[in-house]
Amino acid sequence: MPRQNDNNLFATLDKDEFILLTGRANLELAASVGKILNTEVTCPISSFSDGELRVRIQPNLRRRMVFLLQPTSSPVNDHIMELILMADAAKRASASEITAVIPYFGYARQDRKEMSRVPISASAIATLLINAGVDRIVTIDVHSEQLEGSIKQPWDNLFASYSLLPAIKKLHLKDLVVASPDKGGFLQAAAYAKLLQTEGIAIAYKQRDIAFNDVSNTLGMIGEVKDKDVLLVDDIIGTAGTIVHAANFMKQKGARNVLVAAAHGVFSGDALQKINASGINELIISDTIRPREEVLKNKKITIVSVAPLLAEAIRRIKTGESISKALIL
Ligand code: R5P
Repeated sequence: MPRQNDNNLFATLDKDEFILLTGRANLELAASVGKILNTEVTCPISSFSDGELRVRIQPNLRRRMVFLLQPTSSPVNDHIMELILMADAAKRASASEITAVIPYFGYARQDRKEMSRVPISASAIATLLINAGVDRIVTIDVHSEQLEGSIKQPWDNLFASYSLLPAIKKLHLKDLVVASPDKGGFLQAAAYAKLLQTEGIAIAYKQRDIAFNDVSNTLGMIGEVKDKDVLLVDDIIGTAGTIVHAANFMKQKGARNVLVAAAHGVFSGDALQKINASGINELIISDTIRPREEVLKNKKITIVSVAPLLAEAIRRIKTGESISKALIL
């Protein structure tokens, strides 16, 4: 039996300890975050021969804060399942708080009922994560910030501008106008315009036929871009249709250079070919999604890492410091 006031019993109880685990979606990003935080990051996932996942977390999680890093990028359903099973394992292992750090939140574009008899997929995924044991979600430039309201738990959405701005400033753009490729991106464009103290803002008007998943076209624009450097900002580059149509439109209207900054490089279908053939001079994206070899090699594309942003967010969540004060630019 321990003596009543044996303080040694408590000597090893480090309340600040936390565990960083990663799924298989972006091991490089997880390693960079672990390095900055000076902590080991492990991936507890393997697959059975029939494709089912096996999760086995080695370290003790009892009463520890657990951070699960996993962008739910393609193959999106596999990566969501990895995250759900890691959360379930951590919950059953008595973690004190489970934070799902999801730099890219797949399905986020399916955020409302745009026609009858369709799901709100983004809300369904968030609910699945909470039901698996997640206590908090952290995202970067989530497509629809209203999604935070689809769960009762805290949802911290960080802004990729924290990571992208230094790279944009290095371009020394002149007579700069920040532009949004559609009306939904106006607030984001306005935020960049303020941070970069630009001459003005332009907004393109896009039409997307909801019967055809990936097809959009730029129909018009508000603002003046003639003889200006234009920085088009967007959250996601998927098929690249939105950004390429907008960039070509701006060039037709007399823009000198068209640069693009976006958080998430999905680059689906023939996106890279479209970008190569477009009027886009340079494109800056982050590594929320693990860049494929052909993306890394593309001469128009510069990739900046969100690892410092994620590491700082994790540190602040762990210590209870404000996130909005320092990280939500
Ligand atoms: C749409 O509202 C988003 O902000 C992006 O503009 C869109 O998802 C990009 O998709 P894509 O590259 O396929 O046109």
